[in-house]
Amino acid sequence: MIEPIYSPDQERYNKGMKYRRCGKSGILLPEISLGLWHNFGDVNTLSNSQAMAHYAFDQGITHFDLANNYGPSFGSAEETFGLIMKKSFSPYRDELFISTKAGHEMWPGLYGEWGSRKSLMASLDQSLKRMNLDYVDIFYSHRYDPNTPLEETLQTLVDIVRQGKALYVGISKYPKEAAAFAYNYLEQRDVHCLLYQGRYNLLNREPEEEGILQQARENGTGFIAFSPLAQGLLTNRYLNGIPEDSRMAQNKFLKKEVLTDSILRKIKALNNLATKRGQTLAEMALAWVLKDEMVTSVIIGASSVSQLSDNLKATANTSFSKEEQEAIHHILRK
Ligand SMILES: NC(=O)c1ccc[n+]([C@@H]2O[C@H](COP(=O)([O-])OP(=O)(O)OC[C@H]3O[C@@H](n4cnc5c(N)ncnc54)[C@H](OP(=O)(O)O)[C@@H]3O)[C@@H](O)[C@H]2O)c1
Repeated sequence: MIEPIYSPDQERYNKGMKYRRCGKSGILLPEISLGLWHNFGDVNTLSNSQAMAHYAFDQGITHFDLANNYGPSFGSAEETFGLIMKKSFSPYRDELFISTKAGHEMWPGLYGEWGSRKSLMASLDQSLKRMNLDYVDIFYSHRYDPNTPLEETLQTLVDIVRQGKALYVGISKYPKEAAAFAYNYLEQRDVHCLLYQGRYNLLNREPEEEGILQQARENGTGFIAFSPLAQGLLTNRYLNGIPEDSRMAQNKFLKKEVLTDSILRKIKALNNLATKRGQTLAEMALAWVLKDEMVTSVIIGASSVSQLSDNLKATANTSFSKEEQEAIHHILRK
């Protein structure tokens, strides 16, 4: 037998990762999932992307979150993941929960984005090819499309499940009213909406304020939080300036103007509180999102194995005393 290049840690399910049930479903997901939005594109080194994916799986992370246009360039994160699938993960396919999405700008012309049947069907076929997969575990409508009848988008999700190209479906960033319609439409066709994916972190509490968390729970749908570190703001990355190799230095998805004096003061105060809790700011920020049982998992991004390793420690303490919660409230209100 040819020796596999990668053999995962035999103890991967005994490394301390905790798993939560995804709404009312048979699926358990790790409290920390890995997102491939950044650092897995063709501008990145394959060896670092591969090292992070291997490390994640070795630590009990079973869920990898992708989308058609992650890179840069568009599609290249899926291609990188496809290589990792082929070289390392294919024997473990049934231990993995892999997502992709369509809805944002992907290819030129009239059908490369939004929520038409034409666009979603074509995009998923492309994603499967790039990732070397026969099916994804969950396929998301990546954003609400105000110009396509919601029935068209949702019926496409139903048909994708019927075709066996995705086992489950989800929605991302849908306004509350559209989410209610989606939950109901899908349920009536015996396709349960497994996950709502939304931005949720200490600096952005919309899912909580708008009742998206509660609504998902009432529907038996899990909630999975993206950008739980506010793209790195809620870490030690920017406490003393903008490092050259950071996401903010690229000034694209995380703009330099976000780092105002007021935000910096908040981040520093949060960092002091984290130190008192015996955590890094990143650990505390993730713990804060996970303190709520309505959250199934946080999808983190990372640019190195050491960041991943720091972030995984967050799950050791996800409870906050009343005083700590008040202190956070006070810091964020200022
Ligand atoms: N549904 C949607 O519309 C949507 C939108 C956005 C994201 N997502 C998903 O959510 C995932 C995560 O999003 P995100 O990358 O914005 O998440 P994030 O976890 O908020 O930010 C990740 C960035 O924070 C920095 N970081 C992480 N851990 C650190 C640590 N321990 N110490 C210092 N810095 C640290 C790194 O920045 P540097 O690169 O600067 O080192 C890393 O790239 C994506 O990959 C994607 O799967 C979904």
